[in-house]
Amino acid sequence: MALDFPAGGAPSPFFGDNRTAAIIDELASKGWAHAEAALPADLVIALRGRLEALFAEGELARARIGRGESETRALAIRQTGITWLTGEHPAERRFLEGTEALRREINRALFAGLFEFEAHFARYPEGGHYARHLDAFADRPRDRVVSLVAWLNADWRAGDGGELDLWTSPNDLGPPVATLAPRGGDLLLLMSETIPHAVRATHKPRLGLAGWFRINPGVGGVLDPAA
Ligand code: OGA
Ligand code: MN
Repeated sequence: MALDFPAGGAPSPFFGDNRTAAIIDELASKGWAHAEAALPADLVIALRGRLEALFAEGELARARIGRGESETRALAIRQTGITWLTGEHPAERRFLEGTEALRREINRALFAGLFEFEAHFARYPEGGHYARHLDAFADRPRDRVVSLVAWLNADWRAGDGGELDLWTSPNDLGPPVATLAPRGGDLLLLMSETIPHAVRATHKPRLGLAGWFRINPGVGGVLDPAA
């Protein structure tokens, strides 16, 4: 999803330079970074309203996993409804401006060559979950480099379930190194190819956004497009 910005115009960031730099440092050193209360409260409310309206209008499609998975198998791995952001709604546009600012900063700090960002809303129904996975799927071009998750839930309490577990690397089969409640306004960044993560079964509808900063695999990025 590409948004146009006037030449020389800078997209408005979610937070200030120091916090942005700290989050990117953490992402680079650990492979993931959790930023609490990172999104402006009014933006969280507006995005939540947008997601609830899309759900009420029946605009959320059952998420698929990799190509060629059977419906039954897909449901065992992932149960959530999604719709892609287009940037037409003002809240979506504001969100995509913040992620655009972040994209530019990650590129500046890490020479990452991220060239675009795509994101979808996700609503996990009661009982919804997502089994442990990497975001850079084996059966798609390896163009997802950094993943971003933003949660939109109003009051998440202990006992509501839906926590996100994450591990340090694909070989890490021990207990998760972090278990995060999907609190409205929190952001999580992680390296798409190396940080496995999972969503535990939720006991009430769970709202959020998931997005990916991508490289253009055709342009000779760091990753081998043929792999
Ligand atoms: C994803 C994902 C996490 C979440 O969509 O790939 O891992 O908290 N989402 O919804
Ligand atoms: Mn994921």
